[in-house]
Amino acid sequence: MAQVGYSKKVMDHFMNPRNVGVIEAPDGYGKVGNPVCGDLMEIFIKVKEDKVEDIKFRTFGCGSAIAVSSMVTEMAKGKSLEEAMKITRKDVADELDGLPPQKMHCSNLGADALHAAIEDYWIKTGKIRPEDAKHKQGQEEEEGESCGI
Ligand code: FES
Repeated sequence: MAQVGYSKKVMDHFMNPRNVGVIEAPDGYGKVGNPVCGDLMEIFIKVKEDKVEDIKFRTFGCGSAIAVSSMVTEMAKGKSLEEAMKITRKDVADELDGLPPQKMHCSNLGADALHAAIEDYWIKTGKIRPEDAKHKQGQEEEEGESCGI
């Protein structure tokens, strides 16, 4: 992955990803797929006092997807659920000092899986109805550009 166009932060989070793993019996679980490359992302959260107390991810994604998920878990940890829900795909890419244009679609997975996990928690606790969730479990998100791997 030592290619031109990857920031130092992307390389750091790819080589040393934070919060990798699974939380047993999570309060919220999100799983999304990327229709461009077929990669998958799962995010698990533990919630305490309406905050993201713990968060882990597991992905069958590329290096950029790993860096993005690592970063999104760092950004969400300790935030209130409402704040974490506002983290956008672009916020994550910006926080990584950008991604090469052909890799921008990989940044979708992290934020989408996070939002799906929060919505899963909100459904379980009765805050929203399942039909109101914007991120359906396992559903592929909208099309992006091919990453050309
Ligand atoms: S997430 Fe599939 S190529 Fe990046």
